[in-house]
Amino acid sequence: MNWHIKRNRLNVEELINEESLFFLGNGYLGVRGNFEEGYPDESPTIRGTYINAFHDIIDIPYGEKLYGFPDTQQKMLNVQDTQSVHIYLGEEEELYTLEQGQVLNYSRKLLLDEGSTAREIYWKSPLGKELNIRFERLVSFVHRELFMIKLTLIPVNFSGKLKVVSSVSGDVENYVNEEDPRVATGEAKRLHLSRLLVNEDVGYIESQAEVSRLLAGCMTRHYTDVNAEMSVYKDDHSKQLLFEYVWEAEESVPASLTKRTIFVDSLRHEGDLYEAAIQLQQSLEDWRDDELFHKQKEYMVQFWRHGDVRVGGDFKLQEGLRFNLYHLLQSVGRDSYSNISAKGLSGEGYEGHYFWDTEIYMFPVFLMIAPDLARKLLIYRYSILSHAKNRAAEMGHQQGALFPWRTISGKECSSYFPAGTAQYHISADIAYSYIQYYQATGDTDFLLDYGVELLVETARLWMDVGHLNKNGFSINNVTGPDEYTAIVNNNYYTNVMAKHNLIWAVKAYQLAKRKNSKRVKDLAETLCLTKEELEEFKQAAVTMNLPYDSQFGINPQDDTFLNKAVWDMKNTPADEFPLLLHFHPLTLYRYQVCKQADTVLAHFLLEDEQDFETIRNSYNYYEKITTHDSSLSTCVFSMMAAKLGDLEKAFHYFGDSARLDLDNMHGNTKDGLHMANMAGSFMAIVFGFAGLRIKENGLHFTPKLPEQWSDYSFHVHGQGQLISACVTSQYMRLKLIDANRPVEVHVNGLHYRIKPDETLKVFLAD
Ligand code: BGC
Repeated sequence: MNWHIKRNRLNVEELINEESLFFLGNGYLGVRGNFEEGYPDESPTIRGTYINAFHDIIDIPYGEKLYGFPDTQQKMLNVQDTQSVHIYLGEEEELYTLEQGQVLNYSRKLLLDEGSTAREIYWKSPLGKELNIRFERLVSFVHRELFMIKLTLIPVNFSGKLKVVSSVSGDVENYVNEEDPRVATGEAKRLHLSRLLVNEDVGYIESQAEVSRLLAGCMTRHYTDVNAEMSVYKDDHSKQLLFEYVWEAEESVPASLTKRTIFVDSLRHEGDLYEAAIQLQQSLEDWRDDELFHKQKEYMVQFWRHGDVRVGGDFKLQEGLRFNLYHLLQSVGRDSYSNISAKGLSGEGYEGHYFWDTEIYMFPVFLMIAPDLARKLLIYRYSILSHAKNRAAEMGHQQGALFPWRTISGKECSSYFPAGTAQYHISADIAYSYIQYYQATGDTDFLLDYGVELLVETARLWMDVGHLNKNGFSINNVTGPDEYTAIVNNNYYTNVMAKHNLIWAVKAYQLAKRKNSKRVKDLAETLCLTKEELEEFKQAAVTMNLPYDSQFGINPQDDTFLNKAVWDMKNTPADEFPLLLHFHPLTLYRYQVCKQADTVLAHFLLEDEQDFETIRNSYNYYEKITTHDSSLSTCVFSMMAAKLGDLEKAFHYFGDSARLDLDNMHGNTKDGLHMANMAGSFMAIVFGFAGLRIKENGLHFTPKLPEQWSDYSFHVHGQGQLISACVTSQYMRLKLIDANRPVEVHVNGLHYRIKPDETLKVFLAD
């Protein structure tokens, strides 16, 4: 139930969105759900295959370029297209296309439980031949470089010749749209063919990115169970490989042909890429197709065992939740070159860049259901720490690490600094994720190896950018998460997150010292870290300026936010949203209007910094002026509404988040899936309705059940153990799975210790 996303009707207008919805990936490779045979009537398409972090470097054009603006940016490239397969029927060689003939039956499925897609078409040719066509696809979670398409053909009312021409194209380019700042506006053609070769039945294409000089290669070979005549060609002019298979088909007898492609790239694969691909391809020779599909299914069983979230009595939301988790799993990078981009590997929106979305939205999900993957995200940030230090220096800071607002390989890619580089909070967000990792896992070795250094370098940034004045430690000229307000003094979110960063730089140092004082001494020497400096961190944290307005009893977003006029939301026509596509940024900056949660998000992340009243007043205040034009917003309002006890609202905001892409609610699903929001829907259940907070002394829950559901359940990791949780109207049940030691939890403020073989049932008051 709810494990398959289905389409039973061919709706040509929806195909471009379905390319994102039905994409397959494994964190390394992402293939959009394009059709092998193409679309009818030249319907719009973004045909794409991406390798995480595989990019070119392009110049940023400026009218007026000032000091410190980045010269270049990175752009994720669309690599070789191996998706095409064409089928010809009979001696007449009638081409199967959706433009001609008749589609008698059609279905398409994304199998969330098996990690693959299946598409079936029952087609009648103009000359009356009926053919059943099935395409099954898999991007392997087990063999990182493998993408395969299995084609099964059943001639329904004829016997005779069938011909399949499968091709691979090196003539590819990226998608551009000059009207939308959320996708690229130019530089479509950046990958150039460097090798095209055929060796018996194996074809290979290698291409090189224009400036980064990175190489991407793909090797294709086919396997069939029929006695087919085969020919393989390369066409240097069209930059294509063509594999032709011809056989005599028998009525009602299925025949299958599998196209396996191995993708390699010079970021990860050493030496000659062709050789690397051959080796990988050969290592898979003994694997039958059904074994590959089976292994994939096993991987998914394991994933869902730790990851599944169930809601009792709500088919639609259940579908959205699983869909979202599945796509997160497909998009998360698993090595130090890659991370998880704003659209994952599903499309080209935001050009494959990694943002703060990772740390504040996606990371907590992985921390709870797959901590090993969460750790990889942290290691990636550590691997670009030196870039962040260089960037801080370039931005005029004497010390510290300023992480890029958007990046692939570590250098700042943002050309619009007011809503880009100025979002200094990204450094505190990354620090926050390091702290959360430690709090959830208790892994002090991680602090020794990475945590202390990263927390100290980010803390140093705040010491340099901020200063002490009569209002306390103040941080000026930064932008908080809300991109409709820019370059402000004392953004509450930034300041409170910086405070946390400073406190934890000191704490992490002390915790690590307790574990291994010799190593910490060496580390302190390497970092030139002194007791005095740690004391300064503490002082800055204690005196941090956290704006408070006594008239409204709220935390103002920044020093001057409340002095601005309030945007006339009621009289803004619906078609003028998102505002960013209709108003100059300066217009927006002059008003109290928020694109997304800012202070409300800070209250979620660091709830102990303010009393309940301030949090409630702030929620009510900001709710009225927030447009949710960013998809990162509604899940935060859902979590905070749940905290404040307004379950109706929490449920409403959650609904907006859970099916945002499935229902194309922001109208741009074609550019890729909104990964942070997808993670937000998980957070809205686990951190929202179940009220989970990860604190120093364990996991804290304050469970609530929306009246629309009979119950809900989920899994989380805490202190190295897997916990299954279920909430009904009467109780919360917690149980350890395969545990080897007890776990400390708090439910509604009371402390419990769950032993490995025990089930804890806490009854909830009305
Ligand atoms: C949001 C940012 C986000 C970016 C990428 C923007 O619309 O305002 O907060 O990082 O999208 O998802």
